[in-house]
Amino acid sequence: MKKKLLAAIMATAMVALTACGGAAAPAASGDAASGDAAPAAASGSGKKVAVAMPTQSSERWMHDGANMKAQLEELGYTVDLQYAEDDVQAQVSQIENMIAAGANCLVIASIDSDALVNVEQQAKDAGIPIIAYDRLLMNTDAVSYYATFDNKGVGTKIGEYIVQHCGATKEDPKTIELFMGSPDDNNAHMLYAGLMEQIQPLLDDGSLICKSGQIDFDSNNTLRWDQQTAMKRCEDILTRYYADEDLDICACAYDGLSYGCMSALEGAGYTDANWPMITGQDAELMATKHIISGKQTMSIYKDTRLLASKCVTMVQAVLEGSEPEINDTEQYNNGKIVVPSYLCEPVAVDKDNYKEVIIGGGYYTEEQLAE
Ligand code: BGC
Repeated sequence: MKKKLLAAIMATAMVALTACGGAAAPAASGDAASGDAAPAAASGSGKKVAVAMPTQSSERWMHDGANMKAQLEELGYTVDLQYAEDDVQAQVSQIENMIAAGANCLVIASIDSDALVNVEQQAKDAGIPIIAYDRLLMNTDAVSYYATFDNKGVGTKIGEYIVQHCGATKEDPKTIELFMGSPDDNNAHMLYAGLMEQIQPLLDDGSLICKSGQIDFDSNNTLRWDQQTAMKRCEDILTRYYADEDLDICACAYDGLSYGCMSALEGAGYTDANWPMITGQDAELMATKHIISGKQTMSIYKDTRLLASKCVTMVQAVLEGSEPEINDTEQYNNGKIVVPSYLCEPVAVDKDNYKEVIIGGGYYTEEQLAE
C-alpha cells in the first residue's frame, strides 16, 4: 500500500515536472484546474528553500511536498523538505533548524500557526522571507505571500452540492451533522463560513435538521483534522441522537473525517439501504475510490501541482525579484497584515465528473483507481 502511494505521488510529481519544467511552459493541457502559466524558467541560483509541511499521515501533504521539491529543484534550488507529523513543537524546532541551517526562503504549511509567531520573527530578523503554503500564517508581518485554494469557496462548493443533491424539502426534511476542520487552521473557519452560507436557509426553514444541535463551529470542529476524533464524535452523535431515525448527511470538511464517519456508520449498522450522503475534501486516492464505489458522495479536488507552481512563483519573487502571480489582496487578513495571495480554484468531484476532472487532469490514472 505504502509503495503504491509513493509511486502515485512520484507519478504526480513527474507530471508536475513535465508541466512546469524547462521553459515557461503552460501546465499540461488537460490539466483540469489549470491553464495558468507555470513558474518562470530555471534560475539555477542554487539557493536553499526550506519547506515545512504538517504531516505525512494525509495524502495531500505528501503530494504537496513532492510537487514543491520537484518544481523547485527543476529551477535549480536546493530543497530542505520536512514534515512534523502534526506535532506543533516539532514544527517549531524544524523551522528553527531551517533558519540555523541557512535557508534563503521558508515555505510553511503550518500545523498551529499561532505557535509559529516567534520563529517567524526570528526568520524576519535574519532576513529570510516566508511564503505561507495553503494555510494562512496568522498574527505575523513576517509573511510575504500566500498560495492557497479559495478556502471559503471549498465550503461553498460542499454546501452547494448538499443543497442541490440531498433532496431536502420542508415536506421531506433530511438530517445533517457537521464534521468541520481544525480550529487552529484558518482554512477550517473559512470553509465553515462558505458551507453555512449555503445550508443556513435550509436549516432555518426546517428542510435540514441537525438533531445534535451542533451547528456552531465551536461544537463541530475537529482538532488537527483527526480521523479518530471525528469517528468518536460521530459514534457519540449516532448513539445519542439517531437511535430512532437515520442520519442522512455527513457534511465532512476533509476526506480523513469522512473515513472516520464511515467507520462510525458501519459500526452503527448502516448499510447501502440507509447509507448517508458523505462529503469530503482533497479527493484523496482512497476517497476517489470511495466515490466510485458509492461510499463517499463527493470530495473537493485540489490540484496540488497547480498550488505548488503558484507557490514557486512566490519563492522566485522573494529570491530573484520577479513578480509573483497574485489574485487576491483583500480576503486574507492575518490579524497583522493583509497577505497578498493567489487562490487556486477548488473543484467539486463526484461519480459523474471524476473521470473528466481527476483522470482527465492526470491526477490519478484509471489503473490506480481500479486497484
Ligand atoms: C487544507 C485541506 C486539508 C486539511 C487537512 C487544510 O488546511 O486546506 O486541503 O484537507 O487542511 O489536512
